[in-house]
Amino acid sequence: MEFFLDTANLDQIREVNELGLLDGVTTNPTLMSREGGDWREQASLICDAVDGPVSLEVIGTTHEEMIKEAKDLVSFGPNVVVKIPMIPEGMKALKELREREIKTNVTLVFSPSQALLAAKLGATYVSPFVGRLDGLGQSGMESVDQMRTIFDNYSFATKILVASVRHPMHVIESGLIGADVVTLPYATIMQLMQHPLTDKGLATFLADWEAFQNE
Ligand code: E4P
Repeated sequence: MEFFLDTANLDQIREVNELGLLDGVTTNPTLMSREGGDWREQASLICDAVDGPVSLEVIGTTHEEMIKEAKDLVSFGPNVVVKIPMIPEGMKALKELREREIKTNVTLVFSPSQALLAAKLGATYVSPFVGRLDGLGQSGMESVDQMRTIFDNYSFATKILVASVRHPMHVIESGLIGADVVTLPYATIMQLMQHPLTDKGLATFLADWEAFQNE
């Protein structure tokens, strides 16, 4: 399973990269706006800092606008993946972007039927937002499970990129289902490493060793 970081923050990106855990980055207009400043400069710095794919999202809502923006976004680096919203105009744009061999990430996906359409149109990634579905009392992971079955039934190459991740159980369940990628907020990736028994065990080992040295 690949780990992407769901952020536009360069410090977080560099820190997770140093851990050796960074396979890629996903951004969105909200995450970009949180960083402030010149978004073009920020996008360019992110693309340079990451070896893997970096998703940058279009703002336009017509396919003409999306195509125009996509052509601009790919100039930030060879690792750019253009994020397209799951709306009819987005589907039109997908077809053309596939013909131009521009990688795409279909975002704001909330149902297996939406994922199926994106896969049929040759999206590189499809991003189900599991946390937002859970928030409505629906099971985000059940949707991802259905997407996995559908994609496997038809050997779609589109990768399932689990997004809107809220906690480590979303990551564990993604692994059990066989999702290709999870995109994680910085706090969640750090949470994956932690266990109180690890900290307690290490403290005991070090204390015992120190006592042994002082015998
Ligand atoms: C994915 O690419 C999105 O940026 C992200 O996961 C959205 O999640 P949210 O529900 O935390 O905003």
